[in-house]
Amino acid sequence: MEVLVAYMSKTGNTKKVAEAIYGEIIAEKEIKPIDKVESIEGYDLVFLGFPIHAQGPDKKTTKLLKKLCINGKKIALFITHCAPEEAEELSSWLGKFRQDANRADIVDMFNCQGELSKTVKRFMSIYPNAQIRSWARKDNSKGQPDESRLQKARTFAKDVMEKVST
Ligand SMILES: Cc1cc2nc3c(=O)[nH]c(=O)nc-3n(C[C@H](O)[C@H](O)[C@H](O)COP(=O)(O)O)c2cc1C
Repeated sequence: MEVLVAYMSKTGNTKKVAEAIYGEIIAEKEIKPIDKVESIEGYDLVFLGFPIHAQGPDKKTTKLLKKLCINGKKIALFITHCAPEEAEELSSWLGKFRQDANRADIVDMFNCQGELSKTVKRFMSIYPNAQIRSWARKDNSKGQPDESRLQKARTFAKDVMEKVST
């Protein structure tokens, strides 16, 4: 089996999760930034990771998911975000990634908190929209993804590998 782990990561959080997933895979495997991936055709399983930007996938992510997720290809999505995992908004934000990848066979999806960059937090704290200002105030993502989240990502990788191999 040939497995690819590909990720987009501006500040390193999604990359940490990608590396945790990669470490768990027992198969022929590769890990790459998504910019370096032309096609996923040659792989039996692909883990694709992105950060949430502005309440969903950014334009580049949508474009990549639509381009790479060819019919029936087995993929597993992993997403990082600064909102706490129990935030109500998350299911609709995550649903947008699922929607963009819907030509593929989505085996499973993982998400966890990743530290919000100081620059973005500062920007959000003076944003005209009150809800965005309140998210900046409530931000508790410092230090994420921590070891417990990386461990969950490893378990996710193992479960996906098991599902695909049976
Ligand atoms: C421009 C921008 C917009 C963001 N918008 C959201 C958002 O709407 N919701 C959220 O939970 N996190 C948001 N985040 C936080 C990131 O998703 C989070 O910090 C993520 O772990 C960053 O991953 P990376 O380090 O791999 O780039 C945003 C970050 C940036 C830079």
